[in-house]
Amino acid sequence: MKNVPFVSLRRQFSQFEESLVAKFRQVGKSGQYVFGQELEKFEKEIAQFCGTKFALGVGNGSDALFLVLKALDIGPGDEVITVSNSFIATAWVIAATGATIKFVDIGRDLNIDTDEIEKAITKKTKAIIPVHIAGSPANMTALNRIAKRNKVHIVEDAAQAIGSIYKGKKVGSFGVAAGFSLHPLKNLSIYGDGGVVVTNQPYIYKKIKKLRNHGLKNRDSCALWGYNSRLDTLQAAFARIKLKKLPEINRRHKLIAKFYCEELASLVEIPHQHSLEDSVFHNFIIRVKNRKKLQSFLAESGVETKIHYPVPIHLQECSEHLNYRRGDLPKTEFAARQILSLPIFAELKDIECEYVVKKIKKFFRDNTTLGSV
Ligand SMILES: Cc1ncc(COP(=O)(O)O)c(C=O)c1O
Repeated sequence: MKNVPFVSLRRQFSQFEESLVAKFRQVGKSGQYVFGQELEKFEKEIAQFCGTKFALGVGNGSDALFLVLKALDIGPGDEVITVSNSFIATAWVIAATGATIKFVDIGRDLNIDTDEIEKAITKKTKAIIPVHIAGSPANMTALNRIAKRNKVHIVEDAAQAIGSIYKGKKVGSFGVAAGFSLHPLKNLSIYGDGGVVVTNQPYIYKKIKKLRNHGLKNRDSCALWGYNSRLDTLQAAFARIKLKKLPEINRRHKLIAKFYCEELASLVEIPHQHSLEDSVFHNFIIRVKNRKKLQSFLAESGVETKIHYPVPIHLQECSEHLNYRRGDLPKTEFAARQILSLPIFAELKDIECEYVVKKIKKFFRDNTTLGSV
């Protein structure tokens, strides 16, 4: 069998090529490349998709979260709680405001352990950023209860979870606001960087509308110091095309995940889902005892895998000043040694999924002592 890539963006491009090129011509001829109708339409459509009142296209998913924190007036002297098991951007958005990052450990589902949060809350805590990791929804019921009891905001990092459902509602609609990423690797992806803020709060919507555009109220008057973080008109137009296909893309991710779960549950620890319908499985993360050996075996067999994420954020060089030590977040650190992401993307063929499973089964047949975690 040929190689099974972890992801192939080229495969998807060819499916969309004609409509994207037609859109490029249309936007090109319109002469409107920043703001305009395509962006406004995309914002309406994505708000409707997420079940929120408002959506704003911004420069990327990191900015989406950062601008929410800025809209909440979070800055030096404040504390924001999040997880260390995430992409670096989750913590960077806190650092960028000047607030202090407080990490909380994760549960077996790789999401924030809601039982640990209140121990980390102080008078300075202004917000909690749960990450719906790999598309798997965090425990929003517990999070919102904690937020209410302690008068802090929940800002959902939904970068990996567009379309995931928690108790019948789309993620992104639970906190005060949420940030999504439209990065090429995400389930809803564009052809460069992009992000979206969704919220039900008019004050956040109004403030970010200014913040993303230099703080301008209109062309000539500036209300506050802002940023230049807008979703390009062309990328918004592309995102509209992709959004129409998102339910199909997510369905395919779920189908592949279901197949992996059914085939591998007796060999490795499969993702902890309340229900397979909840997650859009941006990634499919298993846990195994001898991750290194399995990963090498799969690589030799032509199966590309990744680790999301091998070094927790609290142990990164950039976090040194936060004074965390190895052992401070034991469940996060333990998970980082065991997790392995298998290939999953909408264009992954059945025969390729079957090959991945076949190879993992062979690995455990040949290494009977290893077993799952
Ligand atoms: C969990 C998480 N948060 C935030 C981001 C930041 O998104 P972006 O890369 O669009 O800035 C990402 C994207 O990689 C992510 O995976």
